[in-house]
Amino acid sequence: MQTADQKFSLTTPLYYVNDLPHIGHAYTTMAADVLARFYRLQGHQVMMITGTDEHGQKIERTAIAQGVLPQDHCDRVVSGFQELWRSYNIQFDRFIRTTDTPHEAIVREFFERVLAQGDIYQGQQQGWYCVACEEFKEERDLLPEHHCSLHPSKVAEWRDETNYFFRLSKYQQQLEQLYAEQPEFIQPNSRRNEVLNFVKQGLQDFSISRVNVEWGIPLPNDPAQTIYVWFDALLGYISAQLEPGAAATLANATNRFWPVNVHIIGKDILRFHAVYWPAMLMSAGLPLPGMVYGHGFFTKDGRKMSKSEGNTIDPQILVDRYGAEALRYYFLKSFEFGQDGDFNETRFVEMVNKDLAGGLGNLLNRTMGMVNKYCGSTVPDCDVANIPSAHPLKNLGSDLGARVAQDYAQLSFQNVCVAVLEIVQASNKFIDEVAPWTLYKQGQQAELQEVLYSLLESVRLASFLLAPVIPKIATAVYQQLGLTIDFDVLQSTEQNIDVSAHSRWGFLTVGQTLSAPHPVFVKLEIPPGVITNAENA
Ligand code: ME8
Repeated sequence: MQTADQKFSLTTPLYYVNDLPHIGHAYTTMAADVLARFYRLQGHQVMMITGTDEHGQKIERTAIAQGVLPQDHCDRVVSGFQELWRSYNIQFDRFIRTTDTPHEAIVREFFERVLAQGDIYQGQQQGWYCVACEEFKEERDLLPEHHCSLHPSKVAEWRDETNYFFRLSKYQQQLEQLYAEQPEFIQPNSRRNEVLNFVKQGLQDFSISRVNVEWGIPLPNDPAQTIYVWFDALLGYISAQLEPGAAATLANATNRFWPVNVHIIGKDILRFHAVYWPAMLMSAGLPLPGMVYGHGFFTKDGRKMSKSEGNTIDPQILVDRYGAEALRYYFLKSFEFGQDGDFNETRFVEMVNKDLAGGLGNLLNRTMGMVNKYCGSTVPDCDVANIPSAHPLKNLGSDLGARVAQDYAQLSFQNVCVAVLEIVQASNKFIDEVAPWTLYKQGQQAELQEVLYSLLESVRLASFLLAPVIPKIATAVYQQLGLTIDFDVLQSTEQNIDVSAHSRWGFLTVGQTLSAPHPVFVKLEIPPGVITNAENA
Protein backbone atom coordinates (compact mmCIF):
# COMPACT_ATOMS: atom_id res chain seq x y z
CA MET A 1 0.00 0.00 0.00
CA GLN A 2 1.07 3.55 -0.51
CA THR A 3 2.33 5.64 2.33
CA ALA A 4 2.42 9.34 1.69
CA ASP A 5 5.13 9.81 4.27
CA GLN A 6 7.63 7.82 2.22
CA LYS A 7 9.99 10.21 0.53
CA PHE A 8 12.10 10.06 -2.56
CA SER A 9 14.42 12.79 -3.78
CA LEU A 10 16.52 12.93 -6.89
CA THR A 11 18.51 15.38 -8.95
CA THR A 12 19.71 15.99 -12.47
CA PRO A 13 23.02 17.81 -12.89
CA LEU A 14 22.75 21.57 -12.67
CA TYR A 15 23.53 22.43 -16.25
CA TYR A 16 25.96 25.07 -17.43
CA VAL A 17 24.36 28.06 -19.06
CA ASN A 18 27.18 28.81 -21.48
CA ASP A 19 24.76 27.93 -24.26
CA LEU A 20 21.21 26.72 -24.87
CA PRO A 21 20.41 23.20 -23.69
CA HIS A 22 21.15 20.30 -26.03
CA ILE A 23 19.61 16.88 -26.35
CA GLY A 24 22.09 15.36 -23.85
CA HIS A 25 20.65 17.60 -21.15
CA ALA A 26 17.14 16.60 -22.17
CA TYR A 27 18.14 12.92 -21.96
CA THR A 28 19.21 13.07 -18.32
CA THR A 29 16.25 15.22 -17.40
CA MET A 30 13.72 12.92 -19.10
CA ALA A 31 15.16 9.96 -17.20
CA ALA A 32 14.95 11.83 -13.90
CA ASP A 33 11.38 12.85 -14.69
CA VAL A 34 10.42 9.24 -15.41
CA LEU A 35 11.89 8.08 -12.11
CA ALA A 36 10.19 10.93 -10.24
CA ARG A 37 6.86 10.06 -11.84
CA PHE A 38 7.33 6.41 -10.97
CA TYR A 39 7.78 7.24 -7.28
CA ARG A 40 4.92 9.75 -7.29
CA LEU A 41 2.71 7.06 -8.73
CA GLN A 42 3.84 4.74 -5.94
CA GLY A 43 2.53 7.36 -3.52
CA HIS A 44 5.87 8.72 -2.34
CA GLN A 45 6.44 12.38 -1.62
CA VAL A 46 8.92 13.29 -4.30
CA MET A 47 11.44 16.08 -4.57
CA MET A 48 12.88 16.28 -8.05
CA ILE A 49 15.58 18.87 -8.44
CA THR A 50 17.02 20.30 -11.61
CA GLY A 51 18.55 23.67 -12.35
CA THR A 52 21.48 25.59 -13.70
CA ASP A 53 25.12 26.11 -12.84
CA GLU A 54 25.80 29.75 -13.58
CA HIS A 55 29.12 30.85 -12.10
CA GLY A 56 32.71 30.36 -13.18
CA GLN A 57 35.09 31.21 -15.94
CA LYS A 58 33.25 29.41 -18.73
CA ILE A 59 30.10 31.47 -18.20
CA GLU A 60 32.06 34.66 -17.53
CA ARG A 61 33.94 34.31 -20.81
CA THR A 62 30.77 33.50 -22.76
CA ALA A 63 29.09 36.65 -21.45
CA ILE A 64 32.15 38.78 -22.22
CA ALA A 65 32.31 37.37 -25.75
CA GLN A 66 28.67 38.33 -26.24
CA GLY A 67 29.18 41.76 -24.75
CA VAL A 68 26.54 41.27 -22.06
CA LEU A 69 26.59 41.13 -18.28
CA PRO A 70 26.94 37.57 -16.96
CA GLN A 71 23.67 37.80 -15.05
CA ASP A 72 21.78 38.97 -18.15
CA HIS A 73 23.31 36.16 -20.16
CA CYS A 74 22.31 33.60 -17.51
CA ASP A 75 18.74 34.90 -17.30
CA ARG A 76 18.30 34.53 -21.04
CA VAL A 77 19.64 31.00 -21.22
CA VAL A 78 17.77 29.84 -18.11
CA SER A 79 14.43 30.75 -19.62
CA GLY A 80 15.40 28.55 -22.61
CA PHE A 81 15.97 25.61 -20.24
CA GLN A 82 12.69 26.13 -18.46
CA GLU A 83 10.76 26.37 -21.70
CA LEU A 84 12.39 23.22 -22.97
CA TRP A 85 11.46 21.28 -19.84
CA ARG A 86 7.86 22.33 -20.32
CA SER A 87 7.95 21.00 -23.89
CA TYR A 88 9.32 17.66 -22.67
CA ASN A 89 6.67 17.52 -19.97
CA ILE A 90 9.24 17.51 -17.17
CA GLN A 91 7.64 17.94 -13.75
CA PHE A 92 10.46 19.14 -11.53
CA ASP A 93 9.70 20.24 -7.99
CA ARG A 94 12.59 22.68 -7.73
CA PHE A 95 14.62 24.60 -10.26
CA ILE A 96 17.74 25.88 -8.56
CA ARG A 97 19.92 28.57 -10.08
CA THR A 98 23.33 28.96 -8.47
CA THR A 99 22.89 32.73 -8.77
CA ASP A 100 19.86 32.60 -6.42
CA THR A 101 20.62 34.67 -3.33
CA PRO A 102 19.81 31.95 -0.73
CA HIS A 103 22.23 29.63 -2.50
CA GLU A 104 25.10 32.01 -1.78
CA ALA A 105 24.29 31.92 1.95
CA ILE A 106 24.29 28.10 1.90
CA VAL A 107 27.65 28.00 0.11
CA ARG A 108 29.17 30.40 2.65
CA GLU A 109 27.89 28.44 5.61
CA PHE A 110 29.14 25.19 4.13
CA PHE A 111 32.54 26.72 3.38
CA GLU A 112 32.82 28.01 6.96
CA ARG A 113 32.04 24.54 8.32
CA VAL A 114 34.69 22.89 6.18
CA LEU A 115 37.16 25.64 7.12
CA ALA A 116 36.42 25.14 10.82
CA GLN A 117 37.05 21.45 10.31
CA GLY A 118 40.60 22.30 9.26
CA ASP A 119 39.99 21.02 5.73
CA ILE A 120 40.80 24.20 3.82
CA TYR A 121 44.32 25.57 3.47
CA GLN A 122 46.28 27.86 1.16
CA GLY A 123 48.65 26.42 -1.42
CA GLN A 124 50.12 26.85 -4.86
CA GLN A 125 48.10 25.45 -7.75
CA GLN A 126 50.01 24.62 -10.88
CA GLY A 127 48.55 22.64 -13.73
CA TRP A 128 46.59 22.42 -16.96
CA TYR A 129 43.06 23.73 -16.72
CA CYS A 130 40.23 22.98 -19.18
CA VAL A 131 37.75 25.84 -18.97
CA ALA A 132 35.07 23.81 -20.81
CA CYS A 133 35.29 21.12 -18.09
CA GLU A 134 36.10 23.67 -15.38
CA GLU A 135 38.67 21.18 -14.16
CA PHE A 136 42.42 20.75 -13.78
CA LYS A 137 43.72 17.89 -15.90
CA GLU A 138 46.63 15.56 -15.43
CA GLU A 139 49.05 16.00 -18.31
CA ARG A 140 48.80 12.26 -19.06
CA ASP A 141 45.03 12.60 -19.59
CA LEU A 142 45.36 15.31 -22.25
CA LEU A 143 45.58 14.80 -26.01
CA PRO A 144 48.65 16.05 -27.94
CA GLU A 145 49.32 19.78 -27.57
CA HIS A 146 47.26 19.86 -24.38
CA HIS A 147 43.87 19.45 -26.04
CA CYS A 148 41.18 18.20 -23.68
CA SER A 149 40.02 14.64 -24.37
CA LEU A 150 36.41 15.58 -23.57
CA HIS A 151 36.55 18.80 -25.62
CA PRO A 152 39.08 18.02 -28.35
CA SER A 153 38.73 21.44 -29.95
CA LYS A 154 39.74 23.16 -26.68
CA VAL A 155 43.25 23.59 -25.38
CA ALA A 156 43.86 23.34 -21.64
CA GLU A 157 45.48 26.46 -20.16
CA TRP A 158 48.50 26.52 -17.85
CA ARG A 159 47.74 27.92 -14.39
CA ASP A 160 50.08 28.86 -11.57
CA GLU A 161 48.29 30.65 -8.74
CA THR A 162 47.83 30.74 -5.01
CA ASN A 163 44.52 29.07 -4.19
CA TYR A 164 42.71 27.56 -1.28
CA PHE A 165 42.67 23.78 -1.26
CA PHE A 166 40.23 21.21 0.07
CA ARG A 167 41.89 18.38 1.99
CA LEU A 168 40.48 15.56 -0.14
CA SER A 169 43.40 13.25 0.71
CA LYS A 170 42.22 13.15 4.33
CA TYR A 171 39.07 11.30 3.20
CA GLN A 172 40.78 8.54 1.21
CA GLN A 173 40.06 5.83 3.75
CA GLN A 174 36.53 6.99 4.58
CA LEU A 175 35.66 7.05 0.89
CA GLU A 176 37.05 3.58 0.33
CA GLN A 177 35.00 2.38 3.25
CA LEU A 178 31.90 4.02 1.79
CA TYR A 179 32.35 2.29 -1.57
CA ALA A 180 32.92 -1.05 0.16
CA GLU A 181 30.01 -0.82 2.58
CA GLN A 182 27.55 0.74 0.16
CA PRO A 183 28.23 -0.87 -3.23
CA GLU A 184 25.13 0.75 -4.72
CA PHE A 185 26.58 4.19 -3.99
CA ILE A 186 28.02 4.29 -7.51
CA GLN A 187 25.99 2.74 -10.30
CA PRO A 188 26.16 1.10 -12.76
CA ASN A 189 28.97 -1.25 -11.74
CA SER A 190 31.21 -0.34 -14.66
CA ARG A 191 31.28 3.25 -13.38
CA ARG A 192 31.89 2.05 -9.87
CA ASN A 193 35.02 0.26 -11.04
CA GLU A 194 36.24 3.41 -12.78
CA VAL A 195 35.94 5.33 -9.54
CA LEU A 196 37.55 2.60 -7.44
CA ASN A 197 40.54 2.55 -9.80
CA PHE A 198 40.85 6.30 -9.65
CA VAL A 199 40.69 6.43 -5.86
CA LYS A 200 43.16 3.56 -5.52
CA GLN A 201 45.82 5.72 -7.17
CA GLY A 202 45.69 8.03 -4.15
CA LEU A 203 43.58 11.15 -3.76
CA GLN A 204 45.07 14.59 -4.05
CA ASP A 205 43.74 17.76 -2.48
CA PHE A 206 42.08 20.06 -5.00
CA SER A 207 41.84 23.81 -5.22
CA ILE A 208 38.47 25.30 -4.43
CA SER A 209 39.10 28.98 -5.17
CA ARG A 210 40.07 31.08 -8.16
CA VAL A 211 42.05 34.31 -8.28
CA ASN A 212 41.10 35.73 -11.67
CA VAL A 213 37.46 34.78 -11.91
CA GLU A 214 35.13 37.52 -10.78
CA TRP A 215 31.88 35.74 -11.68
CA GLY A 216 31.51 33.62 -8.57
CA ILE A 217 30.84 33.70 -4.85
CA PRO A 218 33.61 35.51 -2.89
CA LEU A 219 35.42 33.39 -0.31
CA PRO A 220 34.17 34.26 3.18
CA ASN A 221 37.77 34.32 4.49
CA ASP A 222 39.40 36.01 1.47
CA PRO A 223 37.02 38.04 -0.71
CA ALA A 224 39.77 38.65 -3.27
CA GLN A 225 39.12 35.11 -4.51
CA THR A 226 35.94 33.41 -5.67
CA ILE A 227 34.79 29.90 -4.88
CA TYR A 228 35.58 27.27 -7.52
CA VAL A 229 32.47 26.69 -9.62
CA TRP A 230 32.20 22.97 -8.77
CA PHE A 231 32.41 23.53 -5.02
CA ASP A 232 29.63 26.10 -5.46
CA ALA A 233 27.46 24.10 -7.89
CA LEU A 234 27.30 20.80 -5.99
CA LEU A 235 25.84 22.70 -3.08
CA GLY A 236 22.94 23.67 -5.32
CA TYR A 237 21.51 20.21 -4.58
CA ILE A 238 21.15 21.32 -0.98
CA SER A 239 20.07 24.92 -1.40
CA ALA A 240 17.40 23.75 -3.86
CA GLN A 241 15.66 22.15 -0.91
CA LEU A 242 15.07 25.34 1.04
CA GLU A 243 11.37 25.97 1.43
CA PRO A 244 10.40 29.28 -0.19
CA GLY A 245 10.76 32.03 2.41
CA ALA A 246 12.74 29.88 4.88
CA ALA A 247 15.96 31.34 6.28
CA ALA A 248 18.88 30.20 4.12
CA THR A 249 20.64 27.84 6.52
CA LEU A 250 22.02 24.36 6.03
CA ALA A 251 19.78 23.15 8.83
CA ASN A 252 16.66 24.36 7.02
CA ALA A 253 17.78 23.02 3.67
CA THR A 254 18.54 19.53 4.93
CA ASN A 255 15.61 18.84 7.20
CA ARG A 256 13.17 17.21 4.76
CA PHE A 257 14.59 15.62 1.65
CA TRP A 258 18.29 15.43 2.42
CA PRO A 259 20.12 13.21 1.70
CA VAL A 260 18.82 12.69 -1.82
CA ASN A 261 18.19 9.12 -2.89
CA VAL A 262 19.88 9.44 -6.25
CA HIS A 263 21.93 11.90 -8.25
CA ILE A 264 21.39 11.14 -11.93
CA ILE A 265 24.32 12.40 -13.95
CA GLY A 266 26.27 11.63 -17.11
CA LYS A 267 29.50 9.68 -16.88
CA ASP A 268 31.51 12.85 -17.63
CA ILE A 269 30.99 14.26 -14.15
CA LEU A 270 31.23 11.08 -12.14
CA ARG A 271 34.39 11.99 -10.24
CA PHE A 272 32.89 15.19 -8.90
CA HIS A 273 29.82 13.39 -7.62
CA ALA A 274 31.28 10.10 -6.46
CA VAL A 275 34.56 11.34 -4.96
CA TYR A 276 34.69 15.09 -4.29
CA TRP A 277 31.09 15.49 -3.24
CA PRO A 278 30.87 12.75 -0.57
CA ALA A 279 34.20 13.94 0.87
CA MET A 280 32.89 17.52 1.06
CA LEU A 281 29.77 16.28 2.82
CA MET A 282 31.81 14.17 5.25
CA SER A 283 33.86 17.23 6.10
CA ALA A 284 30.72 19.31 6.74
CA GLY A 285 29.17 16.52 8.80
CA LEU A 286 26.21 15.99 6.47
CA PRO A 287 24.65 12.66 5.45
CA LEU A 288 25.62 11.21 2.08
CA PRO A 289 23.37 10.59 -0.94
CA GLY A 290 22.09 7.06 -1.51
CA MET A 291 23.35 6.65 -5.05
CA VAL A 292 25.19 8.36 -7.87
CA TYR A 293 24.08 6.97 -11.21
CA GLY A 294 26.40 7.86 -14.11
CA HIS A 295 24.54 7.13 -17.34
CA GLY A 296 26.09 6.72 -20.77
CA PHE A 297 26.58 9.31 -23.46
CA PHE A 298 25.05 9.27 -26.83
CA THR A 299 26.95 10.29 -29.83
CA LYS A 300 26.28 11.74 -33.22
CA ASP A 301 28.33 10.32 -36.05
CA GLY A 302 30.34 8.43 -33.45
CA ARG A 303 31.46 11.64 -31.72
CA LYS A 304 30.44 13.02 -28.37
CA MET A 305 27.75 15.64 -28.71
CA SER A 306 28.58 18.76 -26.81
CA LYS A 307 28.04 22.45 -26.93
CA SER A 308 31.76 23.10 -27.13
CA GLU A 309 32.09 20.73 -30.09
CA GLY A 310 29.21 22.39 -31.95
CA ASN A 311 27.64 19.07 -33.04
CA THR A 312 24.49 19.05 -30.96
CA ILE A 313 20.90 18.25 -31.89
CA ASP A 314 18.45 20.99 -30.98
CA PRO A 315 16.04 19.36 -28.52
CA GLN A 316 13.44 22.08 -29.07
CA ILE A 317 13.26 21.43 -32.81
CA LEU A 318 13.01 17.71 -32.13
CA VAL A 319 10.17 18.01 -29.63
CA ASP A 320 8.28 20.51 -31.80
CA ARG A 321 8.56 18.07 -34.66
CA TYR A 322 7.65 14.83 -32.89
CA GLY A 323 6.16 15.59 -29.47
CA ALA A 324 7.46 14.68 -26.04
CA GLU A 325 5.89 11.25 -25.58
CA ALA A 326 7.60 9.68 -28.58
CA LEU A 327 10.98 11.12 -27.64
CA ARG A 328 10.72 10.10 -24.00
CA TYR A 329 9.88 6.57 -25.05
CA TYR A 330 12.64 6.31 -27.64
CA PHE A 331 15.42 7.69 -25.49
CA LEU A 332 14.61 5.40 -22.60
CA LYS A 333 14.08 2.32 -24.70
CA SER A 334 16.68 2.50 -27.43
CA PHE A 335 19.73 1.87 -25.25
CA GLU A 336 20.56 0.75 -21.76
CA PHE A 337 20.70 3.68 -19.36
CA GLY A 338 24.25 2.97 -18.22
CA GLN A 339 25.57 2.44 -21.76
CA ASP A 340 26.46 4.73 -24.64
CA GLY A 341 24.19 5.00 -27.66
CA ASP A 342 23.78 6.86 -30.91
CA PHE A 343 20.84 9.06 -31.89
CA ASN A 344 19.34 8.40 -35.26
CA GLU A 345 16.16 10.05 -36.46
CA THR A 346 15.18 7.28 -38.86
CA ARG A 347 15.55 4.59 -36.21
CA PHE A 348 13.63 6.75 -33.77
CA VAL A 349 10.63 7.13 -36.08
CA GLU A 350 10.67 3.44 -36.94
CA MET A 351 10.76 2.37 -33.31
CA VAL A 352 7.96 4.57 -32.01
CA ASN A 353 5.76 3.77 -34.99
CA LYS A 354 6.29 0.08 -34.42
CA ASP A 355 5.87 0.08 -30.63
CA LEU A 356 3.41 2.87 -29.92
CA ALA A 357 1.31 2.97 -33.10
CA GLY A 358 1.62 -0.58 -34.45
CA GLY A 359 1.92 -2.14 -30.98
CA LEU A 360 0.08 -0.43 -28.14
CA GLY A 361 -2.25 1.81 -30.20
CA ASN A 362 -3.17 -0.93 -32.61
CA LEU A 363 -3.90 -3.38 -29.79
CA LEU A 364 -6.23 -0.89 -28.15
CA ASN A 365 -7.99 -0.07 -31.42
CA ARG A 366 -8.50 -3.63 -32.52
CA THR A 367 -9.70 -4.72 -29.10
CA MET A 368 -12.04 -1.77 -28.59
CA GLY A 369 -13.47 -2.32 -32.05
CA MET A 370 -14.28 -5.97 -31.29
CA VAL A 371 -15.62 -5.20 -27.83
CA ASN A 372 -17.96 -2.60 -29.27
CA LYS A 373 -19.12 -4.96 -31.95
CA TYR A 374 -19.48 -8.12 -29.89
CA CYS A 375 -20.02 -6.99 -26.30
CA GLY A 376 -21.83 -3.65 -26.38
CA SER A 377 -19.14 -1.17 -25.26
CA THR A 378 -18.64 -2.54 -21.76
CA VAL A 379 -15.81 -4.55 -20.25
CA PRO A 380 -16.78 -8.11 -21.28
CA ASP A 381 -18.27 -10.29 -18.60
CA CYS A 382 -16.19 -13.26 -17.55
CA ASP A 383 -15.03 -15.04 -14.41
CA VAL A 384 -11.82 -13.09 -14.00
CA ALA A 385 -10.60 -14.88 -10.89
CA ASN A 386 -10.88 -18.21 -12.64
CA ILE A 387 -9.08 -17.39 -15.85
CA PRO A 388 -6.49 -20.19 -15.84
CA SER A 389 -3.01 -19.07 -14.85
CA ALA A 390 -1.73 -20.79 -18.00
CA HIS A 391 -3.68 -18.26 -20.10
CA PRO A 392 -0.88 -16.75 -22.22
CA LEU A 393 -1.64 -13.13 -21.32
CA LYS A 394 -2.48 -13.71 -17.68
CA ASN A 395 0.68 -15.76 -17.44
CA LEU A 396 2.78 -12.93 -18.86
CA GLY A 397 0.95 -10.28 -16.89
CA SER A 398 0.88 -11.88 -13.48
CA ASP A 399 4.32 -10.81 -12.29
CA LEU A 400 4.88 -8.02 -14.80
CA GLY A 401 4.01 -5.21 -12.36
CA ALA A 402 6.51 -6.44 -9.79
CA ARG A 403 9.26 -6.96 -12.37
CA VAL A 404 8.76 -3.56 -13.91
CA ALA A 405 8.70 -1.84 -10.50
CA GLN A 406 12.07 -3.39 -9.76
CA ASP A 407 13.42 -2.23 -13.11
CA TYR A 408 12.27 1.34 -12.50
CA ALA A 409 13.88 1.32 -9.04
CA GLN A 410 17.16 0.17 -10.62
CA LEU A 411 16.89 2.78 -13.36
CA SER A 412 16.71 -0.02 -15.94
CA PHE A 413 14.37 1.96 -18.13
CA GLN A 414 15.10 -0.06 -21.23
CA ASN A 415 14.05 -3.24 -19.43
CA VAL A 416 10.81 -1.56 -18.35
CA CYS A 417 9.89 -0.75 -21.94
CA VAL A 418 10.99 -4.11 -23.33
CA ALA A 419 9.05 -6.07 -20.70
CA VAL A 420 5.88 -4.06 -21.26
CA LEU A 421 6.16 -4.33 -25.02
CA GLU A 422 6.34 -8.08 -24.65
CA ILE A 423 2.78 -8.30 -23.36
CA VAL A 424 1.61 -5.87 -26.05
CA GLN A 425 3.16 -7.96 -28.80
CA ALA A 426 1.89 -11.19 -27.24
CA SER A 427 -1.60 -9.69 -27.16
CA ASN A 428 -1.56 -8.71 -30.82
CA LYS A 429 -0.31 -12.19 -31.66
CA PHE A 430 -3.04 -13.69 -29.45
CA ILE A 431 -5.69 -11.85 -31.48
CA ASP A 432 -4.32 -13.31 -34.71
CA GLU A 433 -4.12 -16.81 -33.27
CA VAL A 434 -7.49 -16.93 -31.50
CA ALA A 435 -9.37 -14.97 -34.18
CA PRO A 436 -12.16 -13.65 -31.91
CA TRP A 437 -14.36 -13.00 -34.97
CA THR A 438 -14.43 -16.77 -35.54
CA LEU A 439 -15.48 -17.39 -31.94
CA TYR A 440 -18.28 -14.89 -32.53
CA LYS A 441 -19.41 -16.57 -35.72
CA GLN A 442 -19.38 -19.93 -33.96
CA GLY A 443 -21.48 -18.55 -31.13
CA GLN A 444 -18.75 -19.20 -28.52
CA GLN A 445 -19.73 -16.09 -26.59
CA ALA A 446 -18.23 -17.05 -23.20
CA GLU A 447 -14.84 -17.84 -24.73
CA LEU A 448 -15.00 -14.68 -26.80
CA GLN A 449 -15.70 -12.55 -23.74
CA GLU A 450 -12.79 -14.02 -21.84
CA VAL A 451 -10.46 -13.41 -24.80
CA LEU A 452 -11.57 -9.79 -25.13
CA TYR A 453 -11.34 -9.21 -21.40
CA SER A 454 -7.79 -10.53 -21.36
CA LEU A 455 -6.85 -8.24 -24.25
CA LEU A 456 -8.37 -5.13 -22.68
CA GLU A 457 -6.72 -5.96 -19.38
CA SER A 458 -3.33 -6.43 -21.01
CA VAL A 459 -3.48 -3.10 -22.81
CA ARG A 460 -4.54 -1.45 -19.53
CA LEU A 461 -1.70 -3.00 -17.56
CA ALA A 462 0.83 -2.09 -20.24
CA SER A 463 -0.36 1.52 -20.23
CA PHE A 464 -0.31 1.75 -16.45
CA LEU A 465 3.23 0.44 -16.27
CA LEU A 466 4.41 2.84 -18.97
CA ALA A 467 2.63 5.84 -17.41
CA PRO A 468 5.85 7.36 -16.01
CA VAL A 469 7.36 7.28 -19.52
CA ILE A 470 4.31 8.21 -21.64
CA PRO A 471 1.83 9.78 -19.21
CA LYS A 472 -0.42 11.31 -21.85
CA ILE A 473 -0.83 8.13 -23.86
CA ALA A 474 -1.45 6.14 -20.67
CA THR A 475 -4.12 8.64 -19.63
CA ALA A 476 -5.80 8.41 -23.03
CA VAL A 477 -5.87 4.60 -22.87
CA TYR A 478 -7.32 4.67 -19.36
CA GLN A 479 -9.98 7.12 -20.45
CA GLN A 480 -11.14 4.82 -23.20
CA LEU A 481 -11.32 2.00 -20.71
CA GLY A 482 -13.65 4.13 -18.61
CA LEU A 483 -11.04 4.82 -15.93
CA THR A 484 -10.55 8.44 -14.98
CA ILE A 485 -6.98 8.75 -13.87
CA ASP A 486 -4.81 11.58 -15.07
CA PHE A 487 -1.26 10.25 -15.02
CA ASP A 488 -0.03 13.70 -15.85
CA VAL A 489 -0.85 15.17 -12.44
CA LEU A 490 1.72 15.14 -9.71
CA GLN A 491 0.76 12.89 -6.80
CA SER A 492 -1.07 9.60 -7.03
CA THR A 493 -2.22 10.09 -3.45
CA GLU A 494 -4.29 13.05 -4.67
CA GLN A 495 -6.24 10.64 -6.84
CA ASN A 496 -6.28 7.74 -4.41
CA ILE A 497 -4.70 5.36 -6.86
CA ASP A 498 -4.32 1.91 -5.40
CA VAL A 499 -1.02 1.16 -7.08
CA SER A 500 -0.80 -2.48 -6.17
CA ALA A 501 -4.30 -3.13 -7.55
CA HIS A 502 -3.52 -1.32 -10.80
CA SER A 503 -0.19 -3.15 -11.13
CA ARG A 504 -1.92 -6.53 -11.05
CA TRP A 505 -3.26 -8.29 -14.13
CA GLY A 506 -7.04 -8.70 -13.67
CA PHE A 507 -7.89 -5.25 -12.35
CA LEU A 508 -10.57 -4.21 -14.86
CA THR A 509 -14.12 -4.54 -13.56
CA VAL A 510 -16.50 -6.45 -15.81
CA GLY A 511 -19.50 -4.49 -17.02
CA GLN A 512 -17.71 -1.16 -16.79
CA THR A 513 -18.71 1.24 -19.57
CA LEU A 514 -16.05 2.04 -22.13
CA SER A 515 -15.63 5.36 -23.93
CA ALA A 516 -15.53 5.86 -27.66
CA PRO A 517 -12.29 4.56 -29.19
CA HIS A 518 -9.86 6.94 -30.80
CA PRO A 519 -6.20 6.57 -31.80
CA VAL A 520 -3.81 7.28 -28.91
CA PHE A 521 -0.72 7.62 -31.07
CA VAL A 522 -0.61 8.82 -34.64
CA LYS A 523 2.23 7.47 -36.75
CA LEU A 524 5.16 9.86 -37.13
CA GLU A 525 6.82 10.82 -40.36
CA ILE A 526 10.12 12.54 -40.94
CA PRO A 527 9.16 15.83 -42.56
CA PRO A 528 10.31 16.24 -46.17
CA GLY A 529 13.67 17.98 -46.38
CA VAL A 530 14.94 16.78 -43.01
CA ILE A 531 18.31 15.15 -43.46
CA THR A 532 18.55 12.27 -41.04
CA ASN A 533 21.61 11.17 -39.15
CA ALA A 534 21.62 7.96 -41.15
CA GLU A 535 22.08 9.91 -44.36
CA ASN A 536 24.73 12.05 -42.72
CA ALA A 537 26.77 9.17 -41.42
O1 ME8 B 1 28.68 19.34 -16.20
N1 ME8 B 1 24.76 12.30 -23.82
O2 ME8 B 1 26.99 20.78 -16.80
P1 ME8 B 1 26.79 20.44 -18.36
C1 ME8 B 1 24.10 12.16 -22.67
N2 ME8 B 1 27.42 22.22 -14.66
N3 ME8 B 1 24.06 13.10 -21.71
C2 ME8 B 1 24.72 14.24 -21.91
C3 ME8 B 1 25.43 14.47 -23.11
C4 ME8 B 1 25.44 13.43 -24.08
N4 ME8 B 1 26.06 13.54 -25.24
N5 ME8 B 1 25.99 15.69 -23.02
C5 ME8 B 1 25.62 16.21 -21.82
C6 ME8 B 1 27.94 20.28 -15.97
N6 ME8 B 1 24.86 15.35 -21.16
C7 ME8 B 1 27.96 20.92 -14.60
C8 ME8 B 1 27.19 20.03 -13.64
S1 ME8 B 1 26.20 19.49 -11.21
C9 ME8 B 1 26.33 20.14 -9.67
C10 ME8 B 1 27.18 20.55 -12.23
C11 ME8 B 1 24.23 15.58 -19.84
O3 ME8 B 1 25.88 21.48 -18.89
C12 ME8 B 1 24.79 14.62 -18.79
O4 ME8 B 1 23.88 14.55 -17.74
O5 ME8 B 1 28.08 20.24 -19.03
C13 ME8 B 1 26.03 15.37 -18.33
O6 ME8 B 1 26.52 14.90 -17.08
C14 ME8 B 1 25.50 16.77 -18.25
O7 ME8 B 1 24.61 16.88 -19.38
C15 ME8 B 1 26.58 17.83 -18.28
O8 ME8 B 1 25.97 19.08 -18.33
